[in-house]
Amino acid sequence: MQAEDWDARYAEKAQWSAEPNALVAELCADLEPGVAVDLAAGEGRHALWLVARGWEVTAVDFAAVGLDRGRDTEHGAAVTWAVDDVTNWSTAPGSCDLVLVVYLHLPEAGMTALLTRAVDWLRPGGRLLLLGHDVDNVAHGVGGPQDTTILHSVDRLAPVAALLDVDRCEQVRRETPAGTALDTLLWGTRPVSR
Ligand SMILES: C[S@@+](CC[C@H](N)C(=O)[O-])C[C@H]1O[C@@H](n2cnc3c(N)ncnc32)[C@H](O)[C@@H]1O
Repeated sequence: MQAEDWDARYAEKAQWSAEPNALVAELCADLEPGVAVDLAAGEGRHALWLVARGWEVTAVDFAAVGLDRGRDTEHGAAVTWAVDDVTNWSTAPGSCDLVLVVYLHLPEAGMTALLTRAVDWLRPGGRLLLLGHDVDNVAHGVGGPQDTTILHSVDRLAPVAALLDVDRCEQVRRETPAGTALDTLLWGTRPVSR
């Protein structure tokens, strides 16, 4: 989908819950607040949750209408909002403590290139959290994009996982009212020296 398609969806109605994804919240809850980038932030639910916990967050998305919805909330003024294409965006703050990439789906080469750049933005010891629909979700899960060329898998993430000290790189189940969805999680740290 292009930026204008996402803008049309966001203009129609709020797309996501204001609450963070439960796994994102679980993994990030105990991190010391620092500098974070939320790539493809949508309506900013994760950026807003992080700033409320003391983080300094830049939220990037090419859909201005989605970002506007996040900006117009209680903690919206505390987030730095950037309307941009994440595949070209190059103004990340230096030495990030956390980069989030949550439910962004791109063709494999573009995703690998983006995540490789995101690892570069991290300080040694900084964390990358990628969560998105798994390629197996099309046949064995519910919801999400049906184009398998843009979905995640442990195999597709292997080149990025190789750049990290990996805590988790696995398929995870997510219970929804419609049934069980299958996601891919990559959660790791930029090595202190490599
Ligand atoms: C499914 S939504 C997820 C939003 C948010 N991460 C969340 O979990 O609530 C996907 C988002 O990716 C954004 N997106 C897709 N391709 C993008 C690109 N190349 N550059 C910037 N944003 C993009 C869309 O505008 C949309 O807001």
